[in-house]
Amino acid sequence: MLTRGAILRQAPGEFEVADLELDDPRRDEVQVTLVASGMCHSDDHIATGDLPVGTYPFATGHEGAGIVTKAFANDRGINEGDHVVFSSMPSCGHCRYCASGMQTLCNLSAGMLAGVRSSDGSYRLHLTDGTPVGQMCGISTFTATTTAPVTSVIKIDKDIPLDKACLAGCAVGTGWGSAVNSANVQPGDIVVVMGIGGIGANALQGAVHAGASQIIAVDPLAFKREKAMVLGATHAVASMEEASEIARQFTNGQGADSVVITVGVLKPEHVGQGVAAIRKAGTCVLTAVAPTVDVGAQIPLFDFVLSGKRLVGSLFGETNPTRDIPRQLRLYQEGKLNLDAMVTNTYTLDQVAQGYRDMHAGRNIRGVIRFD
Ligand SMILES: NC(=O)c1ccc[n+]([C@@H]2O[C@H](COP(=O)([O-])OP(=O)(O)OC[C@H]3O[C@@H](n4cnc5c(N)ncnc54)[C@H](O)[C@@H]3O)[C@@H](O)[C@H]2O)c1
Ligand SMILES: [Zn+2]
Ligand SMILES: [Zn+2]
Repeated sequence: MLTRGAILRQAPGEFEVADLELDDPRRDEVQVTLVASGMCHSDDHIATGDLPVGTYPFATGHEGAGIVTKAFANDRGINEGDHVVFSSMPSCGHCRYCASGMQTLCNLSAGMLAGVRSSDGSYRLHLTDGTPVGQMCGISTFTATTTAPVTSVIKIDKDIPLDKACLAGCAVGTGWGSAVNSANVQPGDIVVVMGIGGIGANALQGAVHAGASQIIAVDPLAFKREKAMVLGATHAVASMEEASEIARQFTNGQGADSVVITVGVLKPEHVGQGVAAIRKAGTCVLTAVAPTVDVGAQIPLFDFVLSGKRLVGSLFGETNPTRDIPRQLRLYQEGKLNLDAMVTNTYTLDQVAQGYRDMHAGRNIRGVIRFD
């Protein structure tokens, strides 16, 4: 069938909307008409070339929700008419990592930027002239209707609004899980969250949920700091120097229990700042994505070792999507997770490039494309 979606023809490149030919679902695949899709910074990393992908043109978007329009036979019980959230990371359910409760690291995720079916390397999307088009995370949620593997699809209750549920596909699990799972925030902790976009906004909420006593948001932009105070921060400051000072005041000079780094583009100096801000045996979580060519970070190694500090990389907040996405959406339904305040602007599909310009200008916590 014919659909429309936001593609990148090269990197660096601009988001543009193109007509696309979409495959019907095969075995263990479903076709989904999108209702909404959040605009995560990770798609912008593809546009800038920070993250090179396997196929150009590449159909972007990985934080979507919608309604199943066609379902081939599958063992996940996904049927036509079901409401679903796409998980940005797939889970096969039986590889070593899935079997160990680490679905985020499922072996299928190795192919997330390849853009092809993991089974046989074929494409689900083509331009109208037959050129193959890759799919972001195998799902391409900036496409009005998409075909995707059931391993990336989570069925949800029909009374959850899909224009908020989409955030559970990446931002919620990544941010919330970075605090709750990766930083392992404990009641009474002092937590610093560096960078308040969609990911940082959920890290703040995860820290609240875990019982942190002081939550210090860091962002150079005043609008982000205002929003941080609504989303659970107890302090909001412009620099890590100020955040470190506040953390030391609350800990008799020791430093924060944890720092979660959720800036737009991770740079080596951010790692040094995060590690410097934590106490002995504290945890610095790297959630933000760096360009693939970047290596190394300036960390005083002697201090790091003798202070028993911990530096942890976190993919999708160590979320187990089949368990955690329904749980997080239940928290939303019960008023314990604020997704409404996170959506600061909505866009049509044709406004996708404007949405990313607004992200760069710091006008959004999360911009969301609505397909209706
Ligand atoms: N690890 C994962 O699984 C995963 C998943 C999704 C997104 N990400 C990454 O997380 C990062 C954040 O994504 P987002 O969508 O929230 O981005 P965003 O652009 O919406 O927000 C980033 C925020 O960081 C702020 N910032 C920039 N430099 C800063 C600094 N030095 N100190 C403090 N704040 C600073 C910006 O002002 C902005 O508010 C991106 O790198 C994204 O690719 C990682
Ligand atoms: Zn994302
Ligand atoms: Zn797996």
